[in-house]
Amino acid sequence: MDVVTVGPEEIRSAVSMPAAIDVVRNGFLALRRGEFEMPTRTVLRDGAFLVMSTHHRPTASAMIKTLSLNFGDRVPAIVGTVVWSELGHGRHLVADATEVTRIRTGAAAGVATDLLAPAEARTCTLIGAGGQAADQVRAVHAVRPLTELRVVDHSLERADALARALGAELSVDNVIAVADADEAVRDMDIVCCATTSTTPLFSPASLTENAHVNAIGAFRPTMRELPDELLADATVVIDEREAILEEAGEIIHALGSGAVTEDDLIELGDALAAGAGKRTGRTVFKSVGVAMQDWAVASLLAQTFLDQAR
Ligand SMILES: NC(=O)c1ccc[n+]([C@@H]2O[C@H](COP(=O)([O-])OP(=O)(O)OC[C@H]3O[C@@H](n4cnc5c(N)ncnc54)[C@H](O)[C@@H]3O)[C@@H](O)[C@H]2O)c1
Repeated sequence: MDVVTVGPEEIRSAVSMPAAIDVVRNGFLALRRGEFEMPTRTVLRDGAFLVMSTHHRPTASAMIKTLSLNFGDRVPAIVGTVVWSELGHGRHLVADATEVTRIRTGAAAGVATDLLAPAEARTCTLIGAGGQAADQVRAVHAVRPLTELRVVDHSLERADALARALGAELSVDNVIAVADADEAVRDMDIVCCATTSTTPLFSPASLTENAHVNAIGAFRPTMRELPDELLADATVVIDEREAILEEAGEIIHALGSGAVTEDDLIELGDALAAGAGKRTGRTVFKSVGVAMQDWAVASLLAQTFLDQAR
């Protein structure tokens, strides 16, 4: 049995955000075509330990990811392993799940933003300056080059440090940390929510009429980042129906209150297949994350590192 292990730095050097966006976009289309066996993830210890798995039939390759989550005092909050296996040959790649998760979660937001945000969108507000945050902005910047970035967090110090770092990395001059989320989203084209919040982060009245919102944070029924009124009013695209109905707190809340119905929810694969068309009004992309995304980024790693080892 061949096993190759790759760490965070190797992952970063092998996978650019545009490449991750491409492979994840293709993954969502393949998921729609039924190419993946992908059971709903196993949730243990009330969300503190997750196991995700998938098998891509056409390439006879499979991925299993374990995640341990601790949003209290551990940095990073999300750690674990990705194991990618070539089933015919018995070759395996083991990768750091912290980095793969950040990249593939950013990439999904990039795919959705590219499809749903107005072509001329250039300004972005990021709410939540934790582990996932930077890749949300990198992904948005890859599809809508930014001229302005605002960052909000409970910790203004953390928001400020991230705003400065991203401004320097992405050459965005107009960056600022803002304490109030309503103030921060006002007049902005794109909003990325990446928090562990259990209550909506801002009022829909603060958003522009054509704003696009990505929300990755809520992954338990008790968590929420978005208000019902926004979900009622916007085109709502989701990563995968079964997972969203089981885990996405704000969608579960909005279904319960009658703000949305299941028919209002459009899977990203279907939205991609239908094409951008002419959209008006607000758009939302709500994700909880699916194993296909990890498989997609791991398959890029396998191409680089398993082929090298051959
Ligand atoms: N959708 C997906 O595919 C996906 C993937 C990975 C993580 N997640 C989820 O995304 C969330 C963020 O993950 P992370 O690793 O960045 O967590 P993290 O703990 O590193 O960062 C969360 C940040 O949000 C801030 N925050 C929390 N509530 C806030 C509020 N109401 N207003 C402003 N700031 C607030 C915290 O201060 C912290 O800096 C988690 O709930 C995680 O489970 C989703």
